[in-house]
Amino acid sequence: MIKPHGADVLDPRFVDSDEERSALLSEAEFLPSMTLNSAAAANVVMLGAGYFTPLKGFMNLADAMSVATDMKTTDGLFWPVPVVNFTDDVNGLDVNRRIALRDPNVAGNPIMAVMDVESIEEVSDEQLATMTEKVFGTLDASHPGVAVFQNMGRYCVAGEIRVLSLSYFASEFGDTFKTAVEIRDEISERGWETVVAFQTRNPMHLAHEELCRMAQERLNADGIVVHMLLGRLKKGDIPASVRDACIRKMVDVYFPENTVMVNGYGFDMLYAGPREAVLHAVFRQNMGATHLIVGRDHAGVGDYYGPFDAQTIFDELPEGALEIKIFAGDHTAWSNKLNRVVMMGEVEDHAPEDFAVLSGTRLREMLAEGLAPPAEIVRPEVAQILMDYYQQEARQTAVGE
Ligand code: ADX
Repeated sequence: MIKPHGADVLDPRFVDSDEERSALLSEAEFLPSMTLNSAAAANVVMLGAGYFTPLKGFMNLADAMSVATDMKTTDGLFWPVPVVNFTDDVNGLDVNRRIALRDPNVAGNPIMAVMDVESIEEVSDEQLATMTEKVFGTLDASHPGVAVFQNMGRYCVAGEIRVLSLSYFASEFGDTFKTAVEIRDEISERGWETVVAFQTRNPMHLAHEELCRMAQERLNADGIVVHMLLGRLKKGDIPASVRDACIRKMVDVYFPENTVMVNGYGFDMLYAGPREAVLHAVFRQNMGATHLIVGRDHAGVGDYYGPFDAQTIFDELPEGALEIKIFAGDHTAWSNKLNRVVMMGEVEDHAPEDFAVLSGTRLREMLAEGLAPPAEIVRPEVAQILMDYYQQEARQTAVGE
């Protein structure tokens, strides 16, 4: 089976032993504590679940800068995105002391981890700008990822952590949220060797479904793990529970049994395009996938990235940086001439109007009006779930007005 990134075995920072966990929790109640921002809490969940192996905690400023500029830590570990705990409030925190980290996304801010503080460093304007520019490719504050990254705080609190709770994900998404350890185990139990991961933050439309099928066929893969983001998104994106229902329905109806695992991970979307695609590859390798599908505008937003920048970045990675490979997908769309979904670059004699395309805006309007979108775009069973969601949203908005 594919090895974890930079390690022989996964290093989930979650404390597995009930006894040890409750001892640490009791200790943590009396420690100085800080309530994390949502991005840092998402890092805790990923570290806890083994997805961020071999990292043991939050990076210090030198590592964060080195990762942002050169995609490696000061020790030379390949890593594409800083894993940082930035805050403005460092009251009561001291270097070389243990502190408790509190969950911002659960009522009452329960303790989610303990951290042995290695350093507390002030982040300068220039350092923040460099990191932002390198990771997101822009300093534009209207980029949703940039807006979050620039407003997390100006102190970098670094150190190793031990995780005591994976936040609300396990209770809210029982069947779907899985740790990298659990997914790796399941892949191994199924005896899958070639495993394609599909990253998504959307309900899957026909073009997504067919992209998965094409990857599976062309790679002769044993199975697909649809691995959806369950954490925080920008306004207007579809909630995880609705996406989960859509994807499960699609897999049930349209894929042969035992060929697809539907799982998710608790991380906030960064919208960092190419850099995020590389991070996606790192943690899919950790969960045991041999390939990650990277299609059009992967992890992108607006017009910040070229449609295939998230593929070409992989050509520039140092030799041997990652073991996982990408399946680079061209733009997929329904061909009215061939009556099937195709990769647009692979068909001849097609004019733009030979493809069925529907803008996201028009699709949302149709769903909200209860109009079923064409079957060339969305499977009817999936469309039904989405129509129910959008109509309920519309009713709630009307009541709120
Ligand atoms: S993402 O932010 O999680 O990447 P999304 O859920 O829309 O967004 O996309 C999931 C995956 O499908 C990404 O690899 C993306 O590049 C790919 N993808 C989405 N739509 C298309 C399309 N029409 N053609 C090719 N690839 C696509």
